[in-house]
Amino acid sequence: MRELHLAKSAGFCYGVRRAVELAESVAASGAPCVLLGHIIHNQNVVDRLASLGLRTVESPEEVPEGCQVVIRSHGESRAVYEALQARGANILDATCPNVKRIHQIVSQAEEHGRQPVIVGTPDHPEVVAIAGWCRRPVVLSGVEDLTKWLSGDPKRRELPLTFVSQTTSTQKIWEDCVKKAKKECTNVKIFDTICNATHERQSEAAEIAGKADVMVVVGDRKSANTKHLTEICLRRCPRVVQIERADELSPDFFNGCTVAGLTAGASTPAGIIKEVYATMSEEIKAAEGKE
Ligand code: F3S
Repeated sequence: MRELHLAKSAGFCYGVRRAVELAESVAASGAPCVLLGHIIHNQNVVDRLASLGLRTVESPEEVPEGCQVVIRSHGESRAVYEALQARGANILDATCPNVKRIHQIVSQAEEHGRQPVIVGTPDHPEVVAIAGWCRRPVVLSGVEDLTKWLSGDPKRRELPLTFVSQTTSTQKIWEDCVKKAKKECTNVKIFDTICNATHERQSEAAEIAGKADVMVVVGDRKSANTKHLTEICLRRCPRVVQIERADELSPDFFNGCTVAGLTAGASTPAGIIKEVYATMSEEIKAAEGKE
């Protein structure tokens, strides 16, 4: 008997859904509007919105004066808001409230004389935006970076440090940093800002991967949270594949498998997950027939 488990938490999180719905409703209104940066890490969604008249621009300078502009769920730096305001742009802000909270934590920390330390992928747009709410951010990708940074100057261990995390980081990356900071530094404030949607998605993926012989993770290759899901599954399951679309699945992949699992990153549309689920069901049946 073959089983296929689909994670309930697979696909759009609350913040991504909110941003896409906002963009869709502006497109439906017909008012001129552009999107600042790819609204989500999914080319299908970006192309569909473009076909509805919502062009993606890469910088505030490309936003036509007085035009509406959607800020995506990853958020933007203070400087980007100022540049848009200076152009008279009408900002439609879809920054996820969880990300907004981090902007407030880091800017207030600095106001109180503390050093913000952001744990996350340095060039990820969410992390770049968070750093852009600080004058002197320290961005560290994990505990190795933290070790190097602390040993760069012994006085750093005595600084008042405020730690936050990228919302889609893994519990392991974050906890390794927190453990080290608490052990070695004298004045740390810790804000676990990994969001609930990420917690749920990662723990469900780990649970399914723990009982599966084969695990499929669906999401854009640029998506940080999809990459983390794949890493988590790899720790629990011998065969894991990360794909963007159903046609990347190979028929041999399910040979000899009894339990298969499927999850997807926060920016994977439901339609793609459905397609992958259907293809997996067919391929599992075909593999069963061959054996
Ligand atoms: Fe928001 Fe978490 Fe999604 S921060 S955008 S709900 S991954």
